[in-house]
Amino acid sequence: MSKIYDALRKAERDRGRLTKRRARRPPASYPRETERERILLRGMDRNFRRSLLNLRNSIDSEMRQKQSSLIMFTSAVKGEGKTIITASLGRILALGEKERILLVDCSIHNPELHTFFGAKNETGILDYLAGEAELPNVIQTLEEGFLDIVTAGASRDTNVTVPLFNTERMEIFARETAEQYDYVLIDTSAVLEAPETSIIGSYMDGVVMVVQAGKTRREVVKRAMMMIEKLEGKFIGTVLNRKKYHIPEFIYKRV
Ligand SMILES: Nc1ncnc2c1ncn2[C@@H]1O[C@H](COP(=O)(O)OP(=O)(O)OP(=O)(O)O)[C@@H](O)[C@H]1O
Ligand SMILES: [Mg+2]
Repeated sequence: MSKIYDALRKAERDRGRLTKRRARRPPASYPRETERERILLRGMDRNFRRSLLNLRNSIDSEMRQKQSSLIMFTSAVKGEGKTIITASLGRILALGEKERILLVDCSIHNPELHTFFGAKNETGILDYLAGEAELPNVIQTLEEGFLDIVTAGASRDTNVTVPLFNTERMEIFARETAEQYDYVLIDTSAVLEAPETSIIGSYMDGVVMVVQAGKTRREVVKRAMMMIEKLEGKFIGTVLNRKKYHIPEFIYKRV
């Protein structure tokens, strides 16, 4: 009898040990998402975010040698994803060490950057360039203070707006924003479709080409690249935007 009792006690003890050993450890404590992350990454798909982090690292290392960080986003033709990438990269950059980020909408034929942030497009860069507003009047603060934007502003006849980019005021805009911000990201129109894009490029420190994979023909992209290459030493790379999979690919130096 006592043998059976002892065996039962042993079995019970063993089961206890086993249960203790098996007892789940409290889940490893993941670093909690900060308020900044919660706001800036809101609604951003995980893969899209990962690709943008790669893009940020490439841009960071490319821009290290430069004095300032004015970067223009363009493409060969319209609709390749310039605006979504400019807006999303702006958010990702605002998470990093360099925190003062300004987004500027120079895509004057189809100004949409403000729509990604629910901002109004009333007074913007066109009003500044026309001498109808000063810099502090055209800067809007977004995402609870983490980002700033200059929208395109009141639409006008393109015969009037295009030459505005070729003025001293544009030069002052570029210089002053570069002084005030760690990164200035400029959304533009497609380089083959808008004459002002190359002019804007001449004030930049870097130019990124967005190419929608599987859509734009290689010859067309090459023609656009030739225009960018005229802006000597400014070409940073190409973002292959795979719209189908929602993933902007890594920067390529060659297409
Ligand atoms: N990687 C992506 N994931 C999801 N949607 C995308 C992606 N890239 C582009 N799109 C969608 O495709 C459309 C065109 O993108 P976007 O407006 O950014 O292009 P664009 O180059 O700025 O166009 P435009 O030349 O007219 O200014 C938008 O509806 C955008 O949301
Ligand atoms: Mg756009």
